[in-house]
Amino acid sequence: MKNNGHILSASQFDRPFLDKMYRLTNKIRRFDKSKEGLLYLQSLLPHKRAILYFTQPSTRTFLSFQSACHILGMKNSEIRDATTSSERKGESVEDSLRTFSSYVDLIVMRSPVRGLCDRMAAILDSSDRPVPIINAGSGPDEHPTQALLDIYTLQRSFKELGGIEGKTICMVGDLKRGRTVRSLSKLLTLYPGAKIIFASPDAFKIEDDLRTILKDGKVEFLETSDFRDAITNSDAVYMTRIQDEYDDHAGASAKVDTSAFCLRAEHLKIMKKTSVIMHPLPRRTELDPAIDSDPRAKYWRQERNGMWTRVALITMLLGVDQQILLPEL
Ligand code: NCD
Repeated sequence: MKNNGHILSASQFDRPFLDKMYRLTNKIRRFDKSKEGLLYLQSLLPHKRAILYFTQPSTRTFLSFQSACHILGMKNSEIRDATTSSERKGESVEDSLRTFSSYVDLIVMRSPVRGLCDRMAAILDSSDRPVPIINAGSGPDEHPTQALLDIYTLQRSFKELGGIEGKTICMVGDLKRGRTVRSLSKLLTLYPGAKIIFASPDAFKIEDDLRTILKDGKVEFLETSDFRDAITNSDAVYMTRIQDEYDDHAGASAKVDTSAFCLRAEHLKIMKKTSVIMHPLPRRTELDPAIDSDPRAKYWRQERNGMWTRVALITMLLGVDQQILLPEL
């Protein structure tokens, strides 16, 4: 793994890192089954502090990181609105980040600005408090820890079916601005034989840079507007919301007809019996709640997997992973 201990992009991971992280995640879930196990996890990092700096809305990512810190006994502080911090008085984000690094051992940040995490990581690296930064969503660009939990969910779903290798993952919705789609696609380059079908209206197709990454990573992919055909031929269907917060002018996305890219109960019968349905959430109308009770729906499990994979990631970043891998249970 590159990047000086920061988690900035899905491109920085390799298979040994992921495989180790998922072994850790499985072990952590076993610790969760008993009070003794949970108290042991809490004893690992009570001397460490984290700040959650989220200047873009979040429910799951925020709460799962906060819960992950609690599971490890860490203390949290948070800023969820820059208008309540000294940024309101004109302080730069750079100075804010340096200030956080004076008080904590880990910074988890979400921002609407593409590339901001990378810039902040570089600034901290040249300071005397180079604390790690985890990118919890950087504008329409990347969401690497979501990709980690998505791959974990896929891997568990395909455990008895030969793994992710050789499977077809269909991603649907706003593929242009969906950062979860971008990060997950990058991670799929690490699973030989995985194929991707991108199903979207023309206005929301993937960007050229992702096409290049997939070609370089030798991932077979297809772009289509035929939603029914795409979901029929896939082993996993990954639904996403239209990211209208990035519209150039208000209401631009609403002019695009996305009605043919919504998963409804009637589609369940044309999908494979073993397929899985995923969504990073939050959902709108693209994913019918009537599907929630179908055994193929994995999005609630994804939420919980997000917490466990983030526990695993933090133990690796702060150097207590061996204390989880070594003890016999
Ligand atoms: C996603 C995000 O923030 O990119 N949500 C999440 O973190 N689970 C997806 C979205 O907002 O549509």
